[in-house]
Amino acid sequence: MLILGFESSCDETAVSVVSAENGVLRILSNEIASQIETHRLYGGVVPEIASRAHTEAISALTEAALMHAGVGLRDIGLIAVTDHPGLIGALLIAVNFAKALAAANSIPLVPVDHLTGHIAAAYLSEAPPAPPFLAVLTSGGHTGLYHVKDYTSYTLVGTTRDDAVGEAFDKVGRILGLPYPAGAAFDALAREGYKEILGDTTGDLVARHARILTKQDPLALPSPALAGDTLDFSFSGLKTAAMNLLNRHTMTNTPFPRLRFAAAYTTTAVSAIAEKTRLAMQRCGVSRVVLAGGVAANSHLRTHLSSVVSRAGGQLYLPPLALCGDNAAMIAAQGYYVDSAGIRADSHLNASACDSL
Ligand code: KG4
Ligand code: ZN
Repeated sequence: MLILGFESSCDETAVSVVSAENGVLRILSNEIASQIETHRLYGGVVPEIASRAHTEAISALTEAALMHAGVGLRDIGLIAVTDHPGLIGALLIAVNFAKALAAANSIPLVPVDHLTGHIAAAYLSEAPPAPPFLAVLTSGGHTGLYHVKDYTSYTLVGTTRDDAVGEAFDKVGRILGLPYPAGAAFDALAREGYKEILGDTTGDLVARHARILTKQDPLALPSPALAGDTLDFSFSGLKTAAMNLLNRHTMTNTPFPRLRFAAAYTTTAVSAIAEKTRLAMQRCGVSRVVLAGGVAANSHLRTHLSSVVSRAGGQLYLPPLALCGDNAAMIAAQGYYVDSAGIRADSHLNASACDSL
């Protein structure tokens, strides 16, 4: 079966064709029209502009996705579309487009939760994991630990009580003068910081740095891993402490150790995610862990989480770098499992800004 996937929840319009043969998923085309350059002017996503850009892009992108896959609409057996969560005006563009296409061509339609889509990016890797597993979702809008019991059954076991980890990187990155979204540039800045502090950039830099980053260090920051039995985080405290540190330097006119700070911020954020992941593995009784979402592209998180999970006797599944950010291949992949579970949408399908997981 061929699945046509649609994604327009935030600032990427995406359309993809994925094939499912004997349970094996393969990407035939994966078109993405990013609006980042447009929103960069404002330092963040402007919802109204996002909706208009999705409207302009979606039709040509669909034609390109079909053409690059070498198929026509008549070959498509299923349409999958992100219906939540996200910016409501943005979501509605792909939802309505997909509904019209499905109705006009008598193709079944399935709704896909964007967050489960991110997790499904792992099903498109060379050696895909099978549930049950723990999913560590780290994106611009969400940070959550999910016990994935089967392809359509998720239990949220830990989450952020305020900001998401990607948002925390973006907001502090903005103060450091990095362009929006700051994640990738922050990653590179931290690497330079580790080089300065550790002398080289080999191995698990976060673990090596954490061993010497004491509470007395002037660049020490509060851990976003909430104390006690909980698997929850608070990234807003980390972000505020970082901003205060930066402001203190500005007010006292002292030079700011930008690179070392980026390393300290990364070590603190990444260690917290790894610590709660280890606890969640124990609590859920799982050994397989899937990293997902835009922040899954962070090189320091990838390396540190791999070593923490393997030390805990588990195996970490990393999504291909190209599938960490928003894309429609992951939506098509999850759509396949939603359809297999007998869930279908009809012409009443609506979008929702809210989370349901
Ligand atoms: O999953 P995503 O594309 O969008 C949401 O659904 O939110 O995630 C985007 C987020 C942004 O905050 C971006 O800064 C972050 O992923 N990101 C990174 C890296 N690459 C992207 N954060 C840290 N390190 C990276 N290398
Ligand atoms: Zn996303």
